[in-house]
Amino acid sequence: MKNLVIGTLLSLGLISGAQAAGDATAGQSKTAVCAGCHGADGNSMVPNFPKLAGQGEKYLLKQLNDIKSGNRVIVEMTGLLDNLNDQDLQDIAAYYAGKKIQGGQADAELAAVGEEIYRAGDESKGLAACTACHGPTGAGLESAAFPALAGQHAAYIESSLVKFSKSERANDPNQMMRGVAAKMSEADMKAVAQYIQGLYN
Ligand code: HEC
Ligand code: HEC
Repeated sequence: MKNLVIGTLLSLGLISGAQAAGDATAGQSKTAVCAGCHGADGNSMVPNFPKLAGQGEKYLLKQLNDIKSGNRVIVEMTGLLDNLNDQDLQDIAAYYAGKKIQGGQADAELAAVGEEIYRAGDESKGLAACTACHGPTGAGLESAAFPALAGQHAAYIESSLVKFSKSERANDPNQMMRGVAAKMSEADMKAVAQYIQGLYN
């Protein structure tokens, strides 16, 4: 499955060798306004605000560009990126990518159900395993800008899945996540979100 997915992406030209050229030190000084919501080192304390620490640099840069252009609408961040240029966004991405994420704890019962979904998907619904794109440890795939998930707040994971399922978030290339989320029940989303919150790398 994994090889199939990567092969498809290569042929679609979604994987490229290009690296973002950000300066993490310069990035730090540009994140003062972000710290209130995402934490000084990218470990947000508020479950609805995503942790950015340790997230893939290419994925972060893609999101920053999408948020700035309005391709991904985040009301809380309205106007915040307007005065930042490409170099600023690259520096910010490099800064958060270099930090270490602090993981959370999972509800054991829900996480056991979530682990099944994460690792095996659900054949009866045609639901792909999350491991195929986000990796067996939830570390993501930097070359393809597939985000790391391990240790992320369960509330943010769950609300992201809901948004993808309703196409309220629609910045995923080739509808990759909308396709996945549309096949999940609310219970699936809750369970897999708990499992992800407790994953460590
Ligand atoms: C008022 C709170 C707030 C502030 C300030 C804020 N953000 Fe956000 N940010 C959010 C919320 C809420 C989301 C997630 C929205 C959603 O549910 O999709 C988010 C999402 C993001 C994401 C996407 C994360 C992911 O995993 O996809 C990035 C990157 C990001 N913010 C960077 C920044 C940067 C850089 C700054 C400062 C320039 C900043 N944010 C300031 C609230 C904030
Ligand atoms: C075919 C590949 C693929 C599969 C399979 C897949 N994902 Fe994703 N996922 C992606 C991509 C690509 C993105 C980033 C989209 C973007 O660029 O905004 C993403 C983003 C996400 C996000 C948002 C992360 C953030 O920080 O905002 C969550 C949550 C997520 N996926 C959960 C899952 C879960 C749970 C499963 C399994 C049920 C799964 N994904 C299966 C490709 C995939």
